[in-house]
Amino acid sequence: MKSYQFIKVSLILLTLTTSTRLASQTEIANTQAYQVDIFNFDHQLIPDSENYQQQWRRLTGFEHSGLHWEQFVVIYTNHGERAYRNNFLEFSAWFGDPEDEDNQPEYFTYPVGTIFIKENYQMLNGKPADPKSITVMVKHPQGYDAEGGNWEYMQFSVNGQQMIKGSRKDKMVKQQCAGCHQNVADRDFIFSNFYSGTN
Ligand code: HEC
Repeated sequence: MKSYQFIKVSLILLTLTTSTRLASQTEIANTQAYQVDIFNFDHQLIPDSENYQQQWRRLTGFEHSGLHWEQFVVIYTNHGERAYRNNFLEFSAWFGDPEDEDNQPEYFTYPVGTIFIKENYQMLNGKPADPKSITVMVKHPQGYDAEGGNWEYMQFSVNGQQMIKGSRKDKMVKQQCAGCHQNVADRDFIFSNFYSGTN
């Protein structure tokens, strides 16, 4: 074999072995991608949230969110999957043909005790990168804030620092969260924009 041919073959072999190794590393990384315990917040503020990534339903993969600060989001819930799925499908069907009068959406409301945890990741070169914050919504019993659907809003930095906590009645919460979620009051204040039905 001439030496340039030898170099060519060696390069091909090297590329093949490297990409096989990278592929298997990616596989491992993918299975663990949603199980990284990086959001360090006070679990007592959010009932049953100690192992939410393993024990709750994950409703989405990493989704790019224009309205949530151009970040990537992953959404989990304890008891909200049924209504979330229904509202996602109803909205999607309506959106496909809003003029059709037989096609008006029938939205469900969420049971008391429903919690949504949404992880927010920085976007870097179009991909999810550093974890930034978690945003949370908790459905309280009647009397908490009827006009706001009895939802409490919270936000914690990745280190667990509390940035937001309260109902729409709090000025800051209204400004930072509830004012925007008010747009989907008919969907019980939960956008239910993405659903991959996965766990
Ligand atoms: C400018 C509008 C806007 C603001 C402000 C906003 N959100 Fe959202 N939120 C959305 C949209 C849109 C979604 C649907 C998923 C997506 O696109 O990110 C969402 C999704 C969520 C979800 C998952 C459940 C769902 O609605 O699908 C939670 C929990 C949440 N937001 C909490 C918060 C909290 C807490 C704040 C304040 C710190 C906040 N949001 C501020 C628009 C907003």
